[in-house]
Amino acid sequence: MMNTTGSGNHHHRLLSKIATNDEHGENSLYFHGWKAYDDNPFHLTQNPNGVIQMGLAENQLSFDLIEDWMKKNQRASICTTEGVHMFKEIANFQDYHGLPEFRNAVAKFMGKVRGGRAEFDPKRIVMGGGATGANELLMFCLADPGDAFLVPSPYYPAFDRDLRWRTGVKLLPVECKSSDSFRITREALEEAYEKASESNIRVKGLIIGNPSNPLGTIMDRNTLKSLVSFVNDKNIHFVCDEIYAATVFKQPEFISVSEIIQEMDCNLDLIHVVYSLSKDMGMPGFRVGIVYSYNDEVVTCARKMSSFGLVSSQTQHLLASMLSDDEFVERFIGESSRRLENRHRTFTEGLKEVEIKCLEGNAGLFCWMDLRPLLKEATFEAETELWKVIINQVKLNVSPGSSFHCSEPGWFRVCFANMDDETVQVALQRIRTFVDEKKGAGKAAPEKKKKQWQRNLRLSFSSGRIYEDGCLSPHVLSPHSPMLRAQT
Ligand SMILES: Cc1ncc(COP(=O)(O)O)c(C=O)c1O
Repeated sequence: MMNTTGSGNHHHRLLSKIATNDEHGENSLYFHGWKAYDDNPFHLTQNPNGVIQMGLAENQLSFDLIEDWMKKNQRASICTTEGVHMFKEIANFQDYHGLPEFRNAVAKFMGKVRGGRAEFDPKRIVMGGGATGANELLMFCLADPGDAFLVPSPYYPAFDRDLRWRTGVKLLPVECKSSDSFRITREALEEAYEKASESNIRVKGLIIGNPSNPLGTIMDRNTLKSLVSFVNDKNIHFVCDEIYAATVFKQPEFISVSEIIQEMDCNLDLIHVVYSLSKDMGMPGFRVGIVYSYNDEVVTCARKMSSFGLVSSQTQHLLASMLSDDEFVERFIGESSRRLENRHRTFTEGLKEVEIKCLEGNAGLFCWMDLRPLLKEATFEAETELWKVIINQVKLNVSPGSSFHCSEPGWFRVCFANMDDETVQVALQRIRTFVDEKKGAGKAAPEKKKKQWQRNLRLSFSSGRIYEDGCLSPHVLSPHSPMLRAQT
């Protein structure tokens, strides 16, 4: 049969190089786990043996507060009897500056979730389709194809797609080590920068996630300051993805780069913040992303480019009301972090019972779990093997460190806020049983147990499952696959 996708016969390429290249990053274990869940999703009563989705960084703990607000504020929506009088005006609005009331409300909200210690100018608020769109938009403004951005690893897997795929920008990981609690050091940055220069790669900037996905940690003041001086010394850009700014549930407080630049001398033209309501408000479906740049030229250019990923005017209209309701916002942020703290505590204490440790964290919707003691050997092959057992036998979709470009095998990201309390208990019970069995296998009759373990491995991986390395291609995905839908 003739190849019509363009991937085989170069003379008859029907699709573009971007459409057919492999840079999307979908072919990673991180996404393979989604398929396993999609095929056999857990349900407390209807499918209690299914796969529990712990690979999804969603904040589902505080929807009731938003639903309450919606009930009490029907005028905020153009789809209610109370609000429909605004329908024509809003449906017709298509200005890429955004509704003034939306920009004002977002600017105020961004300041509030940073403890009021930084102010944001509504004139600098530029819309993007989620942080995904905002990150890509910034790359288009700051770098040319072939230019590179440094990024501390481990990092959010979809950066590969968002920052590189369509822009042609390269990402150069800066290795952070568990011995430093995965903190980024100036030495590691200098080393990565030097290495790039030696390979004639132009480094245009540094991008960080703060708070970090997948670490669940925030960056301390001194580290942030040293990053700001690094970018100043090199005259390169500094992009801070602060999508989890209000998803901080314990001390110490989150510190934004917007605070730091008030405290030191630096070239503001280099500083850019990315924000979104996907995590802090738990609204990834609304696709509200923000580029906030301190560079006037970037604001102007980003605004023009934002035509490709505007937030719908209906969403802007609704959020303008919601985010300017100070009392609601304060209650929501406070209550959301209390609930997250409780969930985090339940989860990490449950893990402690079987001596599983996590990196000490106070933010995000996940833990960075240390399963090094369970690896057969300290290799990424062993990590993948363990991941396969966890997904196929323990039936938990957790994400292996390799998919976050972690340089040390044995770390896994586990999301804890996208499920109800009962499901958390089931997940914890499964982990405890698994670890106990594994420990038991290590102690009593090691040979016999080991054989059984290997047989289990063979059984689950020879049964035609598609979560084997390299066997999964986007062609086998259903249109409903979360792999095609969401990458959080
Ligand atoms: C660090 C980081 N940046 C960006 C995104 C994408 O967010 P959005 O849904 O706003 O596009 C995520 C989602 O998980 C993320 O963790």
